[in-house]
Amino acid sequence: MQNPTSPPPPPPPSSSSFSSTFFNLRDPKPKPTLILLYTFLFLSLLSLTLILYLSHSTIHTHSGPDPFLHPTHAHRLVFDPHKPSPPPPPSVAYLISGSRGDAARILRLLDAVYHPLNVYLLHLDASAPHTERELVAVTVQSNPIFKAAQNVHVVGKPDFSYPKGSSPVSLRLHAASVLLRLSRDWDWFVSLSADAYPLVTQDDLLHILSFLPKDLNFVNHSSYIGWKEARKLKPIIVDPGLYLSEGTEMFYATQKRELPSAYRVFTGSSFSILSRRFMEFCILGEDNLPRILLMYFANTPSSLSNYFPTVLCNSRQFNRTVINKNLLYAVQDSQRNDLRPLNSTDFDDMIQSGAIFGEKFQKDDDPVLDLIDRNLLGRSPRSVVPGGWCLGEPGNNTCLTWGDAKILRPGAGSQRLEKAIVELLANGIFRSRQCIYE
Ligand SMILES: *[C@@H]1O[C@H](CO)[C@@H](O)[C@H](O)[C@H]1NC(C)=O
Ligand SMILES: *[C@@H]1O[C@H](CO)[C@@H](O)[C@H](O)[C@H]1NC(C)=O
Ligand SMILES: *[C@@H]1O[C@H](CO)[C@@H](O)[C@H](O)[C@H]1NC(C)=O
Ligand SMILES: *[C@@H]1O[C@H](CO)[C@@H](O)[C@H](O)[C@H]1NC(C)=O
Repeated sequence: MQNPTSPPPPPPPSSSSFSSTFFNLRDPKPKPTLILLYTFLFLSLLSLTLILYLSHSTIHTHSGPDPFLHPTHAHRLVFDPHKPSPPPPPSVAYLISGSRGDAARILRLLDAVYHPLNVYLLHLDASAPHTERELVAVTVQSNPIFKAAQNVHVVGKPDFSYPKGSSPVSLRLHAASVLLRLSRDWDWFVSLSADAYPLVTQDDLLHILSFLPKDLNFVNHSSYIGWKEARKLKPIIVDPGLYLSEGTEMFYATQKRELPSAYRVFTGSSFSILSRRFMEFCILGEDNLPRILLMYFANTPSSLSNYFPTVLCNSRQFNRTVINKNLLYAVQDSQRNDLRPLNSTDFDDMIQSGAIFGEKFQKDDDPVLDLIDRNLLGRSPRSVVPGGWCLGEPGNNTCLTWGDAKILRPGAGSQRLEKAIVELLANGIFRSRQCIYE
């Protein structure tokens, strides 16, 4: 345990450390002003890193983040050698993506899933005006906590993302490759849409994940293709997000095609928790399977819910790493082919489910979100969720006394999640539901 009355570490540096980075990956020729800006950003980051390096040369953090968020053991005041230390906490890479009008929801969701050990990439798709993207970037940049940890980034040059087509797969692969380059440290990739919200704190989540093998993938999947599924898989479509600069309708070919026989198609749902090793497998592509399936699914509707389950279950390396549950609480609307919005009536079921996230919530000021903040996350309005990394009260977007980011303070949420995961893994039952050919 740390002694909370200890002299607090100095506040995080607030000089020129930019917490958010604008990515312009598809722009081949940046304009001269941009080059200047980048040079300035690069130099200021470099000088900051140098200053940090010179003044704390014993601390091995790679470029940037405030060392007081990741202190070495020497900073621990009371160290009990008899108490077995828990496994080191893992880190999660989050893509948070939304569309026109989602800026407020994205920022609230970011606060609710924030932890200094994680890394975040925010994306507002091409249908949102640039001013909205700038608002998100400026808000992130002016938050002292994000600035200190330097782990929140905003995509400056957006992609289109149509829910039905293949552009959402392209967005996730793009984001995962950016996140792989941004940080060597994350263990799982989670893509949240703006209408999702957490049901446990990050301290709860990281605590439970720290006991699990890092190669597990949490993915709903089924190889059962009835007429309903076949009707969704056989049409041939072309996603306008891949070739038109204006948003339009999906292009449907008049003919349909047979289901593949070279591999088995698995259907699933669009949310999943994927391991870093699996994301590298999909992106680096030494094995051609992920690329072949990407090209096949490029012309099928709902490719996002089918792509990752199909790659996982058809690869020898990964078919035994899949858990057939994505730990997302969602309710299908039987009338429409979509999720039903959740409200406070669903609250008890959400808690009972032991899920990590819930989807979908309708507005950024939905009363059920306030209920979750109050009862599950301990989050006060407009601030991040408290955790072991912040010993003082987090208020006004600052943390009065920084702690060690690696010390987690799991609460009741970790017990719910532990129960759900123990049930999933008990007696190896999960094997009987793993990539089964039906
Ligand atoms: C995984 O792939 C191997 C090799 O193809 C196969 O023997 C095994 O049955 C597969 N496991 C599952 C759960 O599909
Ligand atoms: C995912 O699978 C679980 C059971 O394994 C089910 O309860 C849940 O509804 C599924 N979620 C979706 C979005 O299909
Ligand atoms: C929540 O949604 C359900 C189903 O749409 C509805 O029956 C119920 O009245 C709603 N509850 C509240 C508190 O709005
Ligand atoms: C937040 O700021 C307001 C106004 O600047 C101030 O009154 C309040 O005490 C601050 N709260 C905290 C927790 O620092």
